[in-house]
Amino acid sequence: MAQLMGKKIVVVGGSSGIGLGVAAAALERGAELVLVGRSQDKLLQAQRSLGGNGRVKTVTADMTRQAEIAAAFAGIGTFDHLVSTAGTPPPGDPIGETDAEMVRRFVDDKLIGAVLVAKYAVRTLTAGGSMTFTSGINKDRPPVPGGAVVSAIAGAFSYFARALALELAPSRVNIVSPGWVDTPMFDELVGEAKAGYFAEMAARLPVGRIAAPSDVAPAYLYAMESEFMTGETIHIDGGQRLI
Ligand SMILES: NC(=O)c1ccc[n+]([C@@H]2O[C@H](COP(=O)([O-])OP(=O)(O)OC[C@H]3O[C@@H](n4cnc5c(N)ncnc54)[C@H](OP(=O)(O)O)[C@@H]3O)[C@@H](O)[C@H]2O)c1
Repeated sequence: MAQLMGKKIVVVGGSSGIGLGVAAAALERGAELVLVGRSQDKLLQAQRSLGGNGRVKTVTADMTRQAEIAAAFAGIGTFDHLVSTAGTPPPGDPIGETDAEMVRRFVDDKLIGAVLVAKYAVRTLTAGGSMTFTSGINKDRPPVPGGAVVSAIAGAFSYFARALALELAPSRVNIVSPGWVDTPMFDELVGEAKAGYFAEMAARLPVGRIAAPSDVAPAYLYAMESEFMTGETIHIDGGQRLI
């Protein structure tokens, strides 16, 4: 297993939720971090909450805007591992009520964003390093009705990683697919209904509770550390695919 001590890790989406959990776990392993996100306020707040004695830097960029993400990676320079958890809440309309503009925005935010991150990250990623992107439980247990778009886009990530793993070898490319995680995105999605949804799901899950970001962060660490894993989708969902 590769050590993360002293390695430079870029976390796109590191200012909140799962990405912030990954940043905290990597910091404990002695890594140096660069957090990337759109909101400078959120980035600075994350940097303060992490501490890290100067080992956490921030870069403001929107991954869907080529010029911004190109400049971000040019400024970051050489690094060892990329983690991307960036994304926005998915559309959830039944297929007969699809809002095409909303779907295009989601595809742009989630899939095209990841493509652009990979495009510019590859220029300064150390050979033999890794890229880890994020999909999710919606590809395996889509909400019904309204889950077709998010399921298709989340599912696409596994195939993105398989092809990219071949193209970028010896660097490695993997996907982490979490189940429900208690993050600000969930608040944004369901608001006050969250407590009820979580109680109901926790009672059904084999592990008996909803994940915190710290519960799924080890899957990202494993994807970075395991020198023998590439093109893979790691599921970390408390058994949610089984119910
Ligand atoms: N939470 C769950 O239950 C769950 C389950 C499975 C999969 N996922 C997936 O995991 C990913 C992370 O979710 P989360 O719950 O951690 O969400 P979150 O708390 O809302 O965090 C999203 C992060 O992505 C950044 N971001 C969003 N759009 C961006 C863009 N265009 N460019 C750069 N940064 C951007 C956000 O910062 P700014 O807003 O400042 O840009 C923030 O740091 C999402 O893709 C989500 O679909 C989540």
